[in-house]
Amino acid sequence: MSFKVNTLSPVLGAEVTGLDLGQTLGANLVNDIRQSWLDAGGLLVFPEQKLSTEQHIAFSSAFGPLFGAPGQPPLQETVSRYLHPEHPEIYRVSNKVENGEPQGRDRAGTYWHSDVSFRECPPTASILHAIEIPGTGGDTMFTNMTAAYDALSDAMKEMLAPLRAQHDFAQTAATQFAERLVVEDDLHGRNRAVHPVVRTHPETGKKGLFVNPGMTTGLEGFDRQESDAILGFLYAHATRPEFIYRHRYRQGDVVMWDNRSLMHYAVDDYGDQPRYMERTTGIGDRPV
Ligand code: SIN
Repeated sequence: MSFKVNTLSPVLGAEVTGLDLGQTLGANLVNDIRQSWLDAGGLLVFPEQKLSTEQHIAFSSAFGPLFGAPGQPPLQETVSRYLHPEHPEIYRVSNKVENGEPQGRDRAGTYWHSDVSFRECPPTASILHAIEIPGTGGDTMFTNMTAAYDALSDAMKEMLAPLRAQHDFAQTAATQFAERLVVEDDLHGRNRAVHPVVRTHPETGKKGLFVNPGMTTGLEGFDRQESDAILGFLYAHATRPEFIYRHRYRQGDVVMWDNRSLMHYAVDDYGDQPRYMERTTGIGDRPV
């Protein structure tokens, strides 16, 4: 099997055609896909795939261990009710309800974030399979945190170099979850971590910003006003249109993004139209 790569935007993303992700991919092919992914800034789209949940997991596992896989830590307690009942590797993002049971987390990630950045070892790739999409709307936006970092002045880069930021699920819980849904254990330090504000990507060696409004609570050593001002500037800078690619789904699209170098945002503009996505989340390294 061979594939073609078409660039999707100047700053980020490529579409890969010619591959059936339901097939077993050999090690060489997996390496080539990984390289294309890194070359595309950490975002690949595999259009209109017909994948079972098992095939989605098998494809994702080729890139490393997954949260929820046998012997691996779960993604997170609070979201465990949204995991696939037979496949704990699969986080379901869905507004569908069947027999009174939500079929996933409704409108997950409608804010800029990098998945579960409050973990000590936050994720590598998230791989989302678009199973049911609205007639219009329900796009996901991605912003390139490496390009955003590169565009900063040398003086700003120097200031940011030694800084560290706290990431805490409590922030996400307070702003994104109804109180009754949050599992208390998730708020007692298990989902809190301090990471460098500028991290070096372990595979490309490139530096990028690693803070996000959904999960970063503050900068170490700064008072609240100072921290809010610096982070506020970084968020406004990193979400400038020239750093963003916005993906409009076709049914079956598989989107693979790199949480180490991107933030993403699920656009909530589709009202009651059904939207059902299944996502795997790869376990990453401690950011440095
Ligand atoms: C997420 O944040 O992983 C959800 C993305 C989406 O549903 O578009």
